[in-house]
Amino acid sequence: VGGAGSPAPITVTISGAGGQIGYAAMFRIASGAMFGPDQPVALRLLEIPQGVKGAEGAALELTDCAFPLLASVDIATAPERGFDGANVALLVGSRPRTAGMERADLLAANGAIFGPQGRAINDHAAEDVRVLVVGNPANTNALIAQRNAPDVPADRFTALTRLDHNRAVGLLAERAGAAVADISGVTIWGNHSTTQYPDLSHATVAGRPALDVVGAEWGRGAYADRVAKRGAEIIEVRGGSSVASAANAAIDHVRDWVLGTGNAAATSGAPAPWTSVSLPSTGAYGIPEDLIASVPARSINGQWQVVEGLSVDEFSRARIDASVAELAAERDQVAALGLI
Ligand code: NAD
Ligand code: LMR
Repeated sequence: VGGAGSPAPITVTISGAGGQIGYAAMFRIASGAMFGPDQPVALRLLEIPQGVKGAEGAALELTDCAFPLLASVDIATAPERGFDGANVALLVGSRPRTAGMERADLLAANGAIFGPQGRAINDHAAEDVRVLVVGNPANTNALIAQRNAPDVPADRFTALTRLDHNRAVGLLAERAGAAVADISGVTIWGNHSTTQYPDLSHATVAGRPALDVVGAEWGRGAYADRVAKRGAEIIEVRGGSSVASAANAAIDHVRDWVLGTGNAAATSGAPAPWTSVSLPSTGAYGIPEDLIASVPARSINGQWQVVEGLSVDEFSRARIDASVAELAAERDQVAALGLI
């Protein structure tokens, strides 16, 4: 790293880096999976004191990988230091719900994390900072961080629904007996929760309408239900929540944001494929503007752009509205707590 002609490192801050998703993500980021084989990275590992040993151990292992692209590894416990100069901020660390905790308690506990982190990003991150919130409840945590960073353009704050998108693609390919590369046009709408709407209305399998291939009853019923509840299925079967697939989705999200979705398809004249991203609403599809909701989007020139103009039938409308209503209720709760 640092040889003649090599670009300056991109600084990636991972909060909760001593935890499971952080551990699964950092080795792939350091090996080039996020920005490609020619782009050095500097890693900042942000933890709370209880999690520092985990981050320190991971840092030792990073050294032992001798990754040619890894310019440096720093560990911080203060958000001001952790986000200093960050180009990409992965907000993974959050407060899990524990026995006896009400949802309002969970939102308040997370407000105490994402408010200060938003302020630290506002004051210390690089001008081009891109933020991805993974820690649950991801959409509302992203809203809290965004509202606490008034000097950062609002559209730099996103939440992860790429895992739901990838689940939807993987399960559709499996059912259809098709290759993942043959699937296009899947959308996750709304919240990263069980109210999300995995939508096959515009999806295709090798160019054929997906709902014709798998049947509308399954596609809008058992399939959508399974995608929306996949997190719980993983917890039940693995005995712990998703880790490697979540880290993989976070890397997919940032890679597409920075490098662009579907550049290859765009040059062939076909419309570039889209993915699903939780973005501050532009008002498209009737989603209120102050919510961070999942929509179909492409990244063009480093910016997410909502795929507009897709037809929304009555069934889809009701499903989108239900998940957006849940996001509005979460927003109202954090507003009542004075967090936004
Ligand atoms: P984990 O418990 O293994 O790790 C979380 C880490 O965050 C811990 O090391 C903890 O010390 C740290 N942490 C807590 N508060 C912090 C703070 N204020 N600053 C910095 N670090 C802090 O959990 P995990 O398995 O890595 O999951 C992390 C989060 O991601 C959870 O909220 C989980 O529900 C969520 N998740 C989201 C998705 C998604 O698709 N959006 C998928 C899977 C998991
Ligand atoms: C997931 O989708 O796997 C995570 O958000 C964990 C969960 O609680 O579902």
